Amino acid sequence: MTIDSPVSAYGRAAARLFDQLGKVYEDTYGQLPEQLAAIHWLLDRLPPQAKVLDIGSGTGRPTAQLLADAGHRVTGCDVSHTMVTLARTGVPQARFAWVDVRDLPEAPGTWDAITAFFPLLQMSRAEIVDTLGRIGRWLVPGGLFVMSTVPFDAEHAELTWMGHTSRASSFAAEVYPRLVRDAGLSILRQHESVFHPDYPGMGAEQHLFIFATKPGDPSRAAPAAVPSHHRGPLEPNARHWAAMEARFDRQDVPLIVDSLSVNTRVLALGGRTVAVARDLADRLGTADAGPDGLQEEDDGRMLGALGVTLLPGAADRLPPVDRSFDAVVAAWTLQRTDEPDFAVAEMARVVDPGHPEAKVVLVQDAPDNEIIGLWNGVRAPLTGAPADPQGQLLLRAAHVLSAHGFDDIAVTRLPIDVVFPEAGPEARARAAARALTALWNVGHPQPVQLHHALLSALRGHFCAGTDRITNDAVMLLARPRR
Ligand SMILES: C[S@@+](CC[C@H](N)C(=O)[O-])C[C@H]1O[C@@H](n2cnc3c(N)ncnc32)[C@H](O)[C@@H]1O
Repeated sequence: MTIDSPVSAYGRAAARLFDQLGKVYEDTYGQLPEQLAAIHWLLDRLPPQAKVLDIGSGTGRPTAQLLADAGHRVTGCDVSHTMVTLARTGVPQARFAWVDVRDLPEAPGTWDAITAFFPLLQMSRAEIVDTLGRIGRWLVPGGLFVMSTVPFDAEHAELTWMGHTSRASSFAAEVYPRLVRDAGLSILRQHESVFHPDYPGMGAEQHLFIFATKPGDPSRAAPAAVPSHHRGPLEPNARHWAAMEARFDRQDVPLIVDSLSVNTRVLALGGRTVAVARDLADRLGTADAGPDGLQEEDDGRMLGALGVTLLPGAADRLPPVDRSFDAVVAAWTLQRTDEPDFAVAEMARVVDPGHPEAKVVLVQDAPDNEIIGLWNGVRAPLTGAPADPQGQLLLRAAHVLSAHGFDDIAVTRLPIDVVFPEAGPEARARAAARALTALWNVGHPQPVQLHHALLSALRGHFCAGTDRITNDAVMLLARPRR
């Protein structure tokens, strides 16, 4: 039987390859742990009945199936007729179109989320860039994009894969984040992993996963509800915090320092801002660091040696000088203040709004930060302690900054993972439960119950195959509107 193909000539090579593979592809790659974790990441964030486009949907399993089973409205598209037929039969709760993604019409703002697990390899590099740009346009503001690919620096490279010779194009891993940003998306996280396909003659493959959002809906960066009261300072145990920080795989400090790259008179506030202040001081030789948290003597001595000025006092009681800085940065400071709103108003007061680079930069844990989630979901109910408000502090700060004329506001995700390289899910869960119990609960009357509750939550977390807990932050950058 011949089938009239709606697939253009340039899609036929990919179609031929995947027509031959069919179900064998799913048998080999269908349980890829990082892909399953990426789908669950999406499931945790999608609004109910979200409209999702799965590009290169293959047999529909696992991606379309898991998303549709959760009640989302999923459309898959694929160039391979065999794949589309398998998907329509195997996942009847989703729709599948036999079409090349390059032929899909421009339809701006159509999808709440788009997934693209490995379909970009059978295109030229220019088409990969073009497709990412179209994905950026297809998403609604606040929409989510998850992609994976095999990163390598070549175009139309001939290679043998799953017993078939084909041509594939890609970019080096470090190029993709720029392409995704150029498509108008903000990267939420990214990671590389290695997969060993169980298929004759196949060696290890490097995979790159990128998670991004289309800016525009601030509720994706901060929850809608503003807390009615502030929980007050929370102090993790300093010694155990250092052990936790040693496990960080972080990209935050360079992004924060970059946001201040053209400022020359910067006030850096708060204990955990020290790393930022240190980098700034290195670059400027002039950053001022003060007050809250810098009582810690070692940090003080270290910054003093770098030529950083220390100001005495608390972050919500800044020196009386108005408009004396062109920027203020406060990273993980607001949750340590008695009056976060007042602290933010103080920051706006000491910045000169007439300076062309005037800004206030605030960093707090992201609302979906998994460590804060454990605090709020496991520890707080057990101890009766109030929930940690960090995810909400920035939303509240944005209102205060707007009221003080700093109403040109942008938010950026700062990826930070806490890595548990221990062998296997159980060892990881135990190490994480020990670390988190020690972090918060030294001297607590119920350490054993806390440890058990954390361990049980962490077993669920690590069984998906991950070796990390996300500890992501969000950076809010507020400028006076010109
Ligand atoms: C490596 S498979 C991955 C399948 C599925 N995303 C998964 O992870 O299970 C890539 C799929 O993308 C499809 N594909 C390749 N180029 C495409 C294009 N230009 N448009 C639509 N689908 C394409 C292939 O037919 C194949 O089914």
